[in-house]
Amino acid sequence: MLSKRVRRSALGGSAAALLAAVTALVAVGIPSAHAADQPLRDLAEAKGVYMGTALMASELSGTSANIAGTQFDSVTPGNEMKWDTVEPNRGTYNWGPGDSIVAFGQAHNMQIRGHNLVWHSQLPNWLTSGSFSNTELHSIMIKHVTDEVTHYKGKITHWDVVNEPFNEDGTYRSDLWYNQLGVSYIADALTAAHAADPAAKLYVNDYNIEATGAKSNGMYNLVKSLKQQGVPIDGVGFQAHFILGQVPSTFQANMQRFADLGVDVAVTELDVRMQTPSDATKLQQQANDYTTVMKDCLGVSRCKGVTVWGFTDATSWVPSTFPGQGAATPYDENYQPKPAYYAIQAALGGGGTTTPPTTPPTTPPTTPPTTPPTTPPGGGGCAVTYGVNQWNTGFTGSVTVTNTSSAPVNGWSLKWSFGAGQTVTQAWNATVTQSGAAATATNLSYNAAIAAGGTVNFGFNANWSGSNPKPTAFTLNGTACTVS
Ligand code: XIL
Repeated sequence: MLSKRVRRSALGGSAAALLAAVTALVAVGIPSAHAADQPLRDLAEAKGVYMGTALMASELSGTSANIAGTQFDSVTPGNEMKWDTVEPNRGTYNWGPGDSIVAFGQAHNMQIRGHNLVWHSQLPNWLTSGSFSNTELHSIMIKHVTDEVTHYKGKITHWDVVNEPFNEDGTYRSDLWYNQLGVSYIADALTAAHAADPAAKLYVNDYNIEATGAKSNGMYNLVKSLKQQGVPIDGVGFQAHFILGQVPSTFQANMQRFADLGVDVAVTELDVRMQTPSDATKLQQQANDYTTVMKDCLGVSRCKGVTVWGFTDATSWVPSTFPGQGAATPYDENYQPKPAYYAIQAALGGGGTTTPPTTPPTTPPTTPPTTPPTTPPGGGGCAVTYGVNQWNTGFTGSVTVTNTSSAPVNGWSLKWSFGAGQTVTQAWNATVTQSGAAATATNLSYNAAIAAGGTVNFGFNANWSGSNPKPTAFTLNGTACTVS
């Protein structure tokens, strides 16, 4: 646990401060009543791991950017650092797409996993049909690895140096690299990457190595041999592209045996696919599967984090790769969190529920208003619940807004005033702006609508000093709300 805490100091100041505060809270045993509403990244950091997502360059604005930047503290480019994108013509580099992912990650204080340098797939034609001699192919590989790692030097925390080198039976995959260069291509790629950026953690990554078995044994023997030879290998990535209900029971023990070889491990491409359409039963099974994977990683002290291969069903690679299957990620196609999202949150120590808190209160407010209603009969207004989980200088605010009127709300703006100089530093599920004491939360595109009787939740982190009184009045689109 100590080494994980030390590693976190590489994170930005605000994350580190929040972490220190949360750690202090935990140390004195104060329950964190509203941890349910903290972003996954904050919960993960408090556990000493990262929570990542793959992102494509097309997802760096709007709703996807809002969610990715708020919920995740690590990003892996979905395609933008692969050979066909980076070196489409020999010796000519196209850094723009990868750079855009790096810029996004840096702007949101995320770690960046480089993916990938040497793989059998997504190779440019000039390379696959070039009929190069073994010597020339070797120098092409070394130059590509060296140039790409050098370009991103200091910006990438982990590199998938070699991706998918194994067949299902644990023998080496018959691809361009192995067929011409033999198994030493793996050590040579790792050595070149290490020379170009000695600080980056270098991984070999594959799928279907999560369970103990032939393929996993192949990887195990490779890593053992690389370590014995003194080749710079820091970790093994378990892609974890799972089928509903089929997370292997040996996953944690398998990761542990790799860790025992002296390398880190990470879950690098998690998704759990199902036959579509989904239904409540499948989504609950999926939530259980996500819980299992999170617990498996948290149960191995050298497991550095979990990355989902896309956080939303809207852009997941699954439907186009596995016809008839999909719904594999923690957010649905409308960017709404699914039970799997809440499962991750709970596994990281937040919430504790596996279903979204969407049910409006079933009982009416117990105290009748002392003044006549200000809204017309049949209209109504809003009810706000404002929760605080605070520590010495910071707090997390958790706000639930219920539309108590008989008409739906389309687009909302909630206003309140802070009584003692509190300042919001970060928000999720809403954009929160502040001018002096006056705070305004506005909807994001995916939660603009509040049905009659429906609720939305949002949260924020903020600073306070002296005292932290709860706001006493809120307005929703200009209408006063009841407050509890
Ligand atoms: C996938 C991408 O998500 C798709 O957009 C692309 O068409 C194919 O590759 N294992 C990996 C990833 O290591 O790079 C793959 O990503 C998914 C399987």
